[in-house]
Amino acid sequence: MPKTMPNQDQLYQDGRPFSQACENNKAPIVAILRSAFAPSKKVLEIGSGTGQHAVYFASELAHLCWQPSDRPEYHAGLKFWLNDYAGTNMLPLVSLDIEDNSWPADFDAVFSANTAHIMSWQQAQLMIAKVGAKLPDQGMFALYGPFNYGGEFSSESNARFEQWLKQGGAHQGIRDQEAVVACAEQAGMTLVCDHTMPANNRLLVFKKMQRPTGGRIS
Ligand SMILES: C[S@@+](CC[C@H](N)C(=O)[O-])C[C@H]1O[C@@H](n2cnc3c(N)ncnc32)[C@H](O)[C@@H]1O
Repeated sequence: MPKTMPNQDQLYQDGRPFSQACENNKAPIVAILRSAFAPSKKVLEIGSGTGQHAVYFASELAHLCWQPSDRPEYHAGLKFWLNDYAGTNMLPLVSLDIEDNSWPADFDAVFSANTAHIMSWQQAQLMIAKVGAKLPDQGMFALYGPFNYGGEFSSESNARFEQWLKQGGAHQGIRDQEAVVACAEQAGMTLVCDHTMPANNRLLVFKKMQRPTGGRIS
């Protein structure tokens, strides 16, 4: 089956952005977030995109406060979805570019889908480093998207997707899972599970593990 290009969003007539990929992946993702984010209270979503994930996850995971965020150019579309959300656990949309110095405060979990291959690798590393620095001990980070393993594409469709990404910008590209995990380790986060997802995607779940400080162990 051909891979759905996550960026190929269609527009409804009222201007509402719509991603078929989000519709397809939201249920498999929430099935994992339900346990990965069970102890969490406030989730920062980086790169909320259309807003479909935000409204679905917030409605399915009612114990969480969901903090949607994205770069300003996405806000008008996002508001179509967020304004329709009837629940009380959605925080007001905030602007967030990975390069920004000020981030929302007090979150204990982070979710981001289909962002690491859209950002430059330098920005993706920055995202992981900042998430690790800002999460409290035991905080969770779930990163969804396609990843390469051992320097290889995990499917023909991912190889085609890479070509499509490169046409959109030389800085874009599917990231090596091992490099992402190494970067997360550097930032104090440990991979707790690497979930196989439909359409040759993965959901990497990390936990912040505060390293003991102080005296040496002899
Ligand atoms: C392919 S869209 C994914 C949107 C949504 N998460 C989804 O799965 O459909 C890529 C997202 O990455 C975000 N993004 C790219 N570069 C970014 C940056 N430097 N800082 C924050 N978000 C960024 C875009 O604004 C966009 O929301």
